[in-house]
Amino acid sequence: MGLECKVYMVRVSYDQKPFRRSLIHAWGAEVVASPSNETNSGRSILAEHPDSSGSLGIAISEAVEDAATRDDSAYSLGSVLNHVLMHQTVIGEEAIEQMKMAGAYPDVIIGCVGGGSNFAGLAFPFMRDKIAGKEIDFLACEPAACPTLTHGIYTYDFGDTAKLAPVTPMHTLGHDFVPESIHAGGLRYHGMAPLISHLVQLGLIRAEAYLQNDIFGSAITFARSEGIIPAPESAHAIHGAVTTAKKADEEGKSKTILFNLSGHGHFDMAAYDNYLAGKLVDVAFDEAEMERALKAIESLPKTA
Ligand SMILES: Cc1ncc(COP(=O)(O)O)c(C=O)c1O
Repeated sequence: MGLECKVYMVRVSYDQKPFRRSLIHAWGAEVVASPSNETNSGRSILAEHPDSSGSLGIAISEAVEDAATRDDSAYSLGSVLNHVLMHQTVIGEEAIEQMKMAGAYPDVIIGCVGGGSNFAGLAFPFMRDKIAGKEIDFLACEPAACPTLTHGIYTYDFGDTAKLAPVTPMHTLGHDFVPESIHAGGLRYHGMAPLISHLVQLGLIRAEAYLQNDIFGSAITFARSEGIIPAPESAHAIHGAVTTAKKADEEGKSKTILFNLSGHGHFDMAAYDNYLAGKLVDVAFDEAEMERALKAIESLPKTA
């Protein structure tokens, strides 16, 4: 297409997933580890935390700053924003047609949530039926190390760490909360899409948080029964589906479960190796770090 592209990749992913970098290079783009020395946001974070593992909030700050300080560049975000969620609803619209072909309708709809786009994409086209009275259980699955919906508060916050993006109402752990370095890098985001946050507030979506050894256990079960190696992010949705199915079995109920397999895990084999060798660490959620990060947003506007 002849478009130049520069990618700010979260430091921990940059280090853990070298072949993603290779792909980006193969397609002709430039990739730098974030936080980097290329922006004011990156430099100020590195000055305070030279070993920062980075976060999606920091990478967003760097990309926004870089684009905003050049005349010839535009910045595009691939999740969180409501219009991105709307674009992704093609997944749910297609799922409706596929369910019709299977002569079925889901009792439970499950997806993993980072910024919220793949889950919303699957869930939103079915949501109109729930609002019209149909009984559907919507389950958003997040990592225990970054439990935005299950532990965060609902308030206005910045979408990025350096406060360059506008404030939006969302569930948040605080814009400068840096989650532990779990393998599901795409779920290490401090906030949540405004539309998903709103639906959680209305009680139309519920959320659960899982430890990484548990989600890899379900990923292995899935790989051995379906032949597909899921991304660690997607493994959260799989774990949600597995636990929901087990609970239904225990209760003697038959449930139709629809979940989104958001990506493959072919670049995450080091994480699978660690899991299979029993070396994967379950990192606890840092409550004190969240309290600190939430204190920093006390003065922002509150939701009604
Ligand atoms: C495979 C995969 N699934 C899910 C996500 C989470 O993003 P979102 O919540 O926007 O769908 C990511 C993010 O990088 C991802 O790589």
